[in-house]
Amino acid sequence: MKKICVIGTGYVGLVTGTCFADLGNQVTALDVNEEKIRDLQNGIMPIYEPGLAEMVERNVRAGRLSFTTSYKEGLKDAEFAFICVGTPEGVDGEADLRYVRAAAESIAENMDHPLIVVNKSTVPVGTGDWVADIIASKQPKPIDFAVVSCPEFLREGVAISDFMHPDRTVLGSTNPRAMEAVAQLFLPLRAPIMMTDLRTAEMIKYASNAFLATKISFINEISIICEKLGADVIEVAQGMGFDKRIGPHFLQAGVGYGGSCFPKDVKALAYMAQTHGMHPQLLTSVMEINEFQRRHVALKLHDLLGEIQGKTIGLLGLAFKENTDDIRESPALAIARHLLEQGAHVKAYDPEAMENSRRAVPEIEMCPDAYKVAENADALVVVTPWNEFKQLDMVRVRDSMKQPILVDGRNIYEPDTMKSLGFIYRGVGRGYDGNGIERSAAD
Ligand code: NAD
Ligand code: UGA
Repeated sequence: MKKICVIGTGYVGLVTGTCFADLGNQVTALDVNEEKIRDLQNGIMPIYEPGLAEMVERNVRAGRLSFTTSYKEGLKDAEFAFICVGTPEGVDGEADLRYVRAAAESIAENMDHPLIVVNKSTVPVGTGDWVADIIASKQPKPIDFAVVSCPEFLREGVAISDFMHPDRTVLGSTNPRAMEAVAQLFLPLRAPIMMTDLRTAEMIKYASNAFLATKISFINEISIICEKLGADVIEVAQGMGFDKRIGPHFLQAGVGYGGSCFPKDVKALAYMAQTHGMHPQLLTSVMEINEFQRRHVALKLHDLLGEIQGKTIGLLGLAFKENTDDIRESPALAIARHLLEQGAHVKAYDPEAMENSRRAVPEIEMCPDAYKVAENADALVVVTPWNEFKQLDMVRVRDSMKQPILVDGRNIYEPDTMKSLGFIYRGVGRGYDGNGIERSAAD
């Protein structure tokens, strides 16, 4: 059992703190957002992450997990302080480090015994050294501390499983003893632990996210070519994925990657390269393709509907991916904003993300379910591949629509089935769906 303070109770902090508590440690989760902490103390979850509410409840009941807004209380007797605050996009695409700075300053001002500061936030290369400088300069009197980088690789929607069964843990520090102590926390997970220096660990995180974003943009570009040439991107990805050097993962063509990480992290890495006089050609293309992929959905609607002005368009899904309520950089909201600007009436349903979306884009008419979205719609667009959209009563959907136009931005339906039901169907990269060459003609 170790005493751990987790700083920031967002998607990463709350999952990290709760999972460490579940492993038997004593965790205090700290946030400067008083409402969030008050809610957590009253058993109200600030986010939707499958399985998390039950795990929080269990560990609070067992006395292993508590919440505070006080750094004094959070750091009391703690051996480790995990920084898990946000690092959003700054004005020029750089990572905004104001929350990391504030956390480092508060640690320095409130620590009263030696501490290992572990940085889990995604931060530009060199930030670990900067955090160490801040802590050293802000301590009222010198107290021993070490900084360890421990980048987080979890995905929203499957965060608990990703934390408990990681592919690897990466640690970086100039202090091998501190790194060894952090490694002990991860030993029960029985995953490879790689130890390196601070800057390399920080770079591994950016390079990993940028590579995954590159895979997505690659398959999205292939999908556009498939549409023109009459090939099916799903089978192309499958055929590629059998090759062990390529692998089957992250090759799903769609509406482009969204979320709180890929968009900002690819930009931040490009920014780091640019500020050091480099031209990050590949990263620039990855971002351009991603932008285009969102526009491509709108182009399909323009193509099928002609004038968008005055049309009613239904969106299935608002979250940036399934199984989360997170709408940060959600392709759905970008598409909704574009359609609203064109004068469309936009209706939508999402199992978890409607409250957040209502605050972000109040002009969207929120519906109680997918069928209500379809009612009187001129077109229906699948933007987030929630399971509950996959086996809808499509006859009912078709019959309630003004026009049976279905743009499947996530390829959750079979083109032939949808066409046989009478839909005018457009998937992504499915060349034979009518958007490109008919498959029979190409074969
Ligand atoms: P988030 O925005 O959901 O949560 C951040 C939390 O930090 C907020 O609750 C905020 O109130 C709190 N906070 C801000 N300043 C603080 C301070 N000075 N002291 C204490 N708390 C403070 O962010 P997130 O999505 O959990 O991401 C956190 C970091 O982890 C980011 O750097 C992100 O890039 C990285 N990351 C995120 C994910 C993910 O799936 N969301 C995965 C891997 C890495
Ligand atoms: C991503 C990474 O997968 C995590 O390893 C990382 O820790 C995290 O970013 C982070 O740094 O914050 P996350 O953004 O939660 O996790 O979700 P992903 O499953 O990676 O999806 C990101 C976006 O790409 C979503 O919009 C998703 O729909 C899209 N995507 C994903 C595709 O379009 N195609 C795919 O094949 C996979």
